[in-house]
Order: sequence, then structure tokens, then C-alpha cells
Amino acid sequence: ITLTPIRAKSKKISDLLVGAFFEDINYAADGGLYAELVQNRDFEYHPADKKYRDKNWNHQTAWRPGLGTLAIDSVSPVHPNNPHYAVLSYDLGKPVLVNEGFGGIAVKAGEKYDCSAFVRIPSAKAGQLTWRLSDKNGNILGTASMKIPAGTNWKKLSAVITANATVADASLELIFEQQGSIHLDMVSLFPQKTFKNRKNGLRADLAQALADMKPKFLRFPGGCVAHGDGIANIYRWKTTIGPLEARKPMRNMWNYHQTTGLGYYEYFQFCEDMGAEPLPVLAAGVPCQNSSDGGAGQQCGIPMADMDEYVQDILDLIEWANGDAKTTHWGRLRAASGHPKSFNLKYIGIGNEDLITDIFEERFTMIFNAIKKKYPEIKVVGTSGPFYEGTDYVEGWGIARKLGVDMIDEHYYVPPGWFIHNQDYYDKYDRNGSKVYLGEYASHLPGRPNNLETALSEALHLNNLERNGDVVAMSSYAPLFAKEGFTQWNPDLIYFTNTEVKLTPGYYVQHLYGNTPGDEYIPADLQYSGNDAGVIKRISTSIVKNTKTNELIIRAVNLLPVTTHIRLNLDDFSGNSKVQKTILTGNPADRKAKPLTSEIQLQANTPEILPPYSLTVWRIRL
Ligand code: AHR
Repeated sequence: ITLTPIRAKSKKISDLLVGAFFEDINYAADGGLYAELVQNRDFEYHPADKKYRDKNWNHQTAWRPGLGTLAIDSVSPVHPNNPHYAVLSYDLGKPVLVNEGFGGIAVKAGEKYDCSAFVRIPSAKAGQLTWRLSDKNGNILGTASMKIPAGTNWKKLSAVITANATVADASLELIFEQQGSIHLDMVSLFPQKTFKNRKNGLRADLAQALADMKPKFLRFPGGCVAHGDGIANIYRWKTTIGPLEARKPMRNMWNYHQTTGLGYYEYFQFCEDMGAEPLPVLAAGVPCQNSSDGGAGQQCGIPMADMDEYVQDILDLIEWANGDAKTTHWGRLRAASGHPKSFNLKYIGIGNEDLITDIFEERFTMIFNAIKKKYPEIKVVGTSGPFYEGTDYVEGWGIARKLGVDMIDEHYYVPPGWFIHNQDYYDKYDRNGSKVYLGEYASHLPGRPNNLETALSEALHLNNLERNGDVVAMSSYAPLFAKEGFTQWNPDLIYFTNTEVKLTPGYYVQHLYGNTPGDEYIPADLQYSGNDAGVIKRISTSIVKNTKTNELIIRAVNLLPVTTHIRLNLDDFSGNSKVQKTILTGNPADRKAKPLTSEIQLQANTPEILPPYSLTVWRIRL
């Protein structure tokens, strides 16, 4: 095949095309990206968190008394949003409380860990609490000690443990150094080494893997987590900021527990640290597919009488993110949390895959109009509703057109063949209407692997998104993270354990496109010397230019089982001697394929080789 760029037909495309989708699914937050090592630190795990499984899930989950007894109480708690705490007692000696972390606590030799807890001794006497990390054989990996002053009020105490060995599955023991009772809450063991060394920060290796993708934006906190399964389960940003003990933990609709330690402040901070635009997505006043709280199948939304308050919450978010640190109420609160500068929020998502019913439309319209009235500069991303293969997004797009919504969020999880046979999907979209945010997509095969075949079909789709980068403004693969052994959804982009990060072929595709973004699309003439239409459908190319770095990026996906030769007709571009070439190739079922990068010289009359099942990216400095 021969590829000839047609420079005269170049067009501007979105410079935010490849971003990331973060949802607390598969233990992506607690036990994952959020670096806290103690599980159930707030003793707020509740049987209702796990609606469908694990009957033993309760306030004591992940804890056990090493010596003495453990009870849970809620009289005079640390904060009403965090009503339960542990009562550890032993009349015959020193009581000990043990936490097993999220399937073990991983520590590294020489690294420091911040210990903190709210503590009180009902007897009002002074006392001492020893923190001890130990391995499975009882070897002590580090200790710290806290003096507890006399008095029956809660006190927040802290200390530091330095680990003396690297262990994947340590446990934490808290030893009350006298007989009797002690009350404990918000028991935390937090690595000092976090991404960008932020306090209450993110697990450095996981955050780095995401940052390495160079996502142009980060969507959070979901997915379905954003709108919850029932009105009471809607994610409310205001209860996820401020002191940790005052945040409101909640049931995660993926059947576990969210501490909200990773809350809106941390999400915005992470975006800034990665250089990604923040894209918070809030419920459109309706829970997941307008589900009823009782699960009776009735559709429901926040009662209209409460909607003014809900709309105000959304306006307050914009003020919290962008408002002046001295003259606005919410800006002041942001500053008090440590960020006087504006977070420069530009986009806000309203709704996630909701059924487009009257209940939805009424609430969405209210929210949309209120945002546009007060903050016309904020771009609102609406939702297209659930995807039904073979249909159009008539309903979601209807209201978008009526209101002039800036962007519409589409979601689809489809087989590789769908991507191959729908390459013109966005070519048909109206260029004068709302833009598209492809907020969730992934290629699904039976058994749901993330392998080379799925990854290449996603690459092929990304080429088609680039060609349509004048109407498709943003895209993000979903879901992002999955903790092995704690996973509700496959495939995901990044698998991990407590000590390892396991990147997938799909990750490498997102990484490659994220690291070679263009802001100009250059159409090309693709000549194929054969006459089998099926063949040419399995070859996909895209040429973009990055006008900031002055680079030309050429991509070619070969989904054929055979080598293909491609002649790159680049006469029109000068100075193309130094070329960085990256190839991702292997067996279609390969889950471990990794790209290889080399410096090459493009030869004028020698075709380049596209290996069977491959993605090749040439990065040419102009
Ligand atoms: O990405 C996983 C889930 O898929 C999201 O939470 C939801 O929006 C979609 O149905």
C-alpha cells in the first residue's frame, strides 16, 4: 500500500483527544491509587456495602484483636460523618489490635510511613500506644510509639515508622501498653513516598503509570460511581473534601466501601500534577439509569423540591475550583485546604449513561441552564444514554441539540469487529452541533481479555477518532485500574497488586497516542494494489501534526495475519531524516505484548514493513 499525505486538506483537531477515565471500580481507589495502607481505617465498613456477597463484611472487616476483645461503638464519635469507632479492651494484660491491610500491607526497607489515629482512653488516664509492623513469621519490621495524654476527649496523634525490610504482606499491630480499654478511629498508615510526595496522596507507581500516558484530561469519579445506584448513593463532592475524619464514607455501588480519602481535592491536585484538565462528572439529579432506591425498577430522581439545593452544589463546585481565594466562600475553602490558586476548571460532566426520560430531562435542563447562566465559559458535557448496538443515540442527542450542550458523552463496549466495521461512525456526525466525548470504550472479546487483538482494534478506532478530531473532542478508555483478586470488571487498562503494576497491550496503545498527540489532521490517499475490500478494512492509517513540537506522526494498524508493505510518500515534508519508530506487535492473544522503539532513517524508495497484527508509529521531527 502507498500512503500519500494531502497537506492542502489539513484540518485542526482537538488537542485533548486522548485522556483518562478514573472510576473507583476494581478497588481502584481504596486499596489502589489512594496510598492508605490500613483497610477500614474508619471502622465504617457496613454489611450493606456488600449487597450481594460476603455476609461477614462489617465494621470490623480487616481488623482482629490480637489480644483482648474488639467492639464497635458510636457514642460521641470523632465526627458525625464518621460515627463508628473501635473499642479495644483487655483486663488481663495489654490489648492488641491487628489490621491486615488490603490483602497484606506492602512496605519497603528504608521507607518512612506516617502513623496517625484519633485516640481516647475512657479511664481518662494517660497511656501509650505502640505501632508495630510485622511479617508472617513474627519478625518486627518497624515500630513507633505515641504518648496518649490524660482526658476523655479524642486526640489526633501521629508518629513515623521506618521499615527495616521489604515485605509484601506485613500486618500492623497497635499495642495499648496497659490493661484496660482504648478507643481508636481513623487509624492510618500512609507512605511518605507518594506521587509528587503529596500528603494524603497517591500510590507513586500507579499514579506514575497513569501520568506516563500523558492523558490530556482526567475524568472522575466515574462511571456509575458518579451517579450511584439510588439517590442516597449519588456521589456528593462536598462530602469528599476537608479533614479526612469529616468526610462522608459511602457504599461503593461496585459492592465495597469508599472512604472518600481520595476525594475531590485529591482528584484536582492529581490533574494539576499530571498536567491534565480536570473533568469532574456529576449526577444529572438521577441515579444510575434512574434506578429507584428500593431497586424495585421504578425510575426516580432527586425530588424536585430538593433540586435547587442540588443545582447549587454544582455551582458551588465551580466556585470551589475556580473562585477567588479571598473573596469567594468556596474559593476560601479551597485555599484553606492548601490550594489558593484556581484549579482552572473548564469542563464539567452532567450525567452518566442515564436513561433519557422526562425525569432526566427536567433535571438535566435545570442544571445545564443554571451553569450556563452563572458560568457561560464552562463547557458542559451531557450524556447520550446507554448504548444499544445498531441504534443511534437519538434521545441523548435530542436534548443536547435542543439546549445546545457543548459536548455529549458516549459509551460503548463492543467486539473488535465492531471497530473494524464502523470506521466511518463519526464521519457522519454533524460538524455544527455538539462535540463528542467518547468517555468510555473498550474492545470486548469473550472472556474479556486485554490482549493484542483488542488493543489493535482500539488503535484502529483511535485513528478514526483522529480523522474526526474536529467533532470528537475527547476520548477515554474505560475502566482504568483493576486490583488483581478484587476485580468486578474486565478488561481494564492497568492491573496491579500491592507491589506490582501490570501494563496491558491496551495501555501501551493509549500511552502511544497520548505521547504523540497531534493538533492538525492531515488526510492521506491510501492506495492498495490488491482488490480485496476486507484487506483494506484491516489496515488503518492516520497522520497528524503536532504544531507545537513541529512533528509529523504517522500511525498504521495492521490487523491482518500477514506482513504488509507500506510506502510512505513524504516528499512534501522536508528534513525528515531522524525518525523515531515504535512497533507494538505479537500474537493476537498475547496479553503481554510491549512496544519497541528505535531510531531509524526513512529511505525514499524503500517501503516500510508492517508486521502481522501490529501498530506502528513513526514520529518525524520536521
Ligand atoms: O466502566 C465501567 C462502567 O461501565 C461504568 O461505571 C459505567 O458508566 C459503564 O456502564
